[in-house]
Amino acid sequence: MFRSIILRSVLPLLVAAGVVAYFGLPYIDRLLRDWFSTDMQVRARLVMTSLEDALPPLVERDDLAALGNFANKVTLDQRLLGLLICRPDGQLLFETARASAAVSCADTLPIADGRSAVLHSGSGSVLVSMFGQTPRGQPPYRVGIVYDMSFADRRQNTARDYVIAFAGLSAMLLALMLVLAAWLLLRRWANILIRDISGRRFLDDAQSPPLWMPVLRQVRKVLHEMEESQRLEMDYRENWTPQALQLVVREQLHSPKMVVVSNREPYIHDFASDGRITMQVPASGMVTALEPVMRACSGTWVAHGSGSADREVVDRHDRLRVPPEDPSYTLRRVWLTDEEEEGFYYGLSNEGLWPLCHLAYVRPSFREEDWDAYRAVNRKFAEVVVREAGANDPVILIQDYHFAILPGQLRPRRPKATVLLFWHIPWPNAETFGVCPWKSEMLSHMLMADVLGFHTLYHCQNFLSTVDRFIECQIDQERMTVALQGHVCHVNAYPISIEWPPRWAATAPDVGQCRRSVRRRFGIREHVTLGLGVERWDFTKGVIERFHALELLLDQRSQLRGQVTLLQIAAPSRSKLPAYKALQEGTLAEAERINVRFGTADWQPIVLVGQHQPPEQVFELYRAADFCIVNSLHDGMNLVAKEFVAARDDEDGVLILSTFTGASRELLEALLINPFDVTETADAMLRAMQMPREQRQERMRLMRRSVKENNVYRWAGRMLMDAARIRQRQALQNVEAAPLSQRRRMS
Ligand code: G6P
Repeated sequence: MFRSIILRSVLPLLVAAGVVAYFGLPYIDRLLRDWFSTDMQVRARLVMTSLEDALPPLVERDDLAALGNFANKVTLDQRLLGLLICRPDGQLLFETARASAAVSCADTLPIADGRSAVLHSGSGSVLVSMFGQTPRGQPPYRVGIVYDMSFADRRQNTARDYVIAFAGLSAMLLALMLVLAAWLLLRRWANILIRDISGRRFLDDAQSPPLWMPVLRQVRKVLHEMEESQRLEMDYRENWTPQALQLVVREQLHSPKMVVVSNREPYIHDFASDGRITMQVPASGMVTALEPVMRACSGTWVAHGSGSADREVVDRHDRLRVPPEDPSYTLRRVWLTDEEEEGFYYGLSNEGLWPLCHLAYVRPSFREEDWDAYRAVNRKFAEVVVREAGANDPVILIQDYHFAILPGQLRPRRPKATVLLFWHIPWPNAETFGVCPWKSEMLSHMLMADVLGFHTLYHCQNFLSTVDRFIECQIDQERMTVALQGHVCHVNAYPISIEWPPRWAATAPDVGQCRRSVRRRFGIREHVTLGLGVERWDFTKGVIERFHALELLLDQRSQLRGQVTLLQIAAPSRSKLPAYKALQEGTLAEAERINVRFGTADWQPIVLVGQHQPPEQVFELYRAADFCIVNSLHDGMNLVAKEFVAARDDEDGVLILSTFTGASRELLEALLINPFDVTETADAMLRAMQMPREQRQERMRLMRRSVKENNVYRWAGRMLMDAARIRQRQALQNVEAAPLSQRRRMS
């Protein structure tokens, strides 16, 4: 920036000073010379006047000795070099010694009587003034008075030096002032820009002179465009890999300490009935997405140690290295008491916030004691995170609705940390969220994050309008930032995804083999179309609605009886809660009823597996299925849809997908349905059964490309790139804000 100031402002100024000096100096020379000459001419005239009476008799007598004496007296003036007496034709009559060394009578011929001229001789310049004399009866002669002008040369040189020095000094002073002014301006602009980019509105700043605005807008526009093009470049990058993500962490963030915080841990250790310790990867979209990211980035994952054998496998700091087969990051377990788990996890998180954010028509419950437990557990996690994060400027990635107030609790303890909160579930509209009794506290704590991520732009907009309704703050809708108590939070959509290529693809058997083994395992015959549903047993997933759609299909088309089976994997989840208990009972009852209604000795319309399946087995199920149905009533993203697509390297299989999932914004080639419309869902099942192979292939190919390009490394990469940009801006702001002495120390 400074280089450009020097190039654009100071250099032209110096050039201008040079030009002024170059053309101005001859003028000053001439001025001084004229000034000195006039002075000398006046003196010469005075000398001549004093000679006028004494000189003619001496010339007449041709008395050279007397002339010499007389001349010596006259030329006592230091600057008067001497006299010349010449005939008008240039013949010398008399000359004093110093005059003769400088000029001859012949040299004076061009000078008219009564005029003067500056002549240059070897010893310097002289001014010669000629005066004609015409004595009566005598031949005329001319008296030349010769003045030494070398003093004028000296003075001219001195004057020239002064002028040059003055011009140079003025130019330097001007340049200095220009640089200073430009620096001050830049500082002010930078301040304004930084403040503006980071969310506080410059246009609202009463002290800012309106004069800057057009320029500022222009500069801001350029900066914004630069950011956008960088973002686009990244967005369209096709091959996001673990290595690309590592590069972002290393080069953009300069390898900070990375801490992930979530309630659910990526690996759970439990005691089996025989007393052995087993390890399980839980059914959680959040874990599916974050685990490969942590494998790539390393760091520490802080999570609730919920397994019965979790304490057995940690070190004395409650840590263990995972994944077990190839440890690449640390899992730090946090222990919760039963009361804490009751209020924090079952209570506020899953009976309050989960139904509040999902439009599945299950009423949320809010109890004061749950809120107290929620706050206490968030505080407990904050303690651990602060310790794990170390003293510097870590990047803390908080996951989900269990930790809405964690950013606010971390901010005062680690002001230099970059805190990201990703909300894995939908965000409802302002009116819906408004029923939460602690909405203001929750929102203002969330806003202490630097980045707040949602799956879709729609959820971001819902969040911003909720904040707008309930919090006194400044919202920049265009940039999607919220400024609160001097802190700026950036709200953005980051559609989550899965790793690509999927981990199990390399070792999975081919599709034919998967089909055979799955059918064998669940007693489904070869000619029967296999529909698949895989999820946690949750009321948001639409499991019962799915059964009703199948029932309708079999009801309306009796020829399909015996031709299609829905294999439903339902991993028990939050089973202690009444809503989940009721759902499980309801699901079992409905499956039973439908199976009794249509089933035969060798065919069941529904095979319900109410058990958690390990991920590699789920992968096999995906490969075996003819269609996969994801008819969630409401879902932030839904990674089952993406996992199904990723598993189908044979480019076959049909995906039926609810329009109330985030995934439906990306997987447009799925059969999109309204999950509340049972008829539409039944029709989609029929279409899936009848869809020709080429169409299945074409749709699957397009969806696979989308999942491959928008994989989880891109999700994390985009968030971390945004975090890096925020860190750079904050660093700049800190330098600007620091007192001068501190700044010197910093540099
Ligand atoms: C959703 C949430 C996750 C959670 C998962 C499983 O996907 O967004 O944060 O881990 O459900 O729920 P659970 O209560 O078993 O952790």
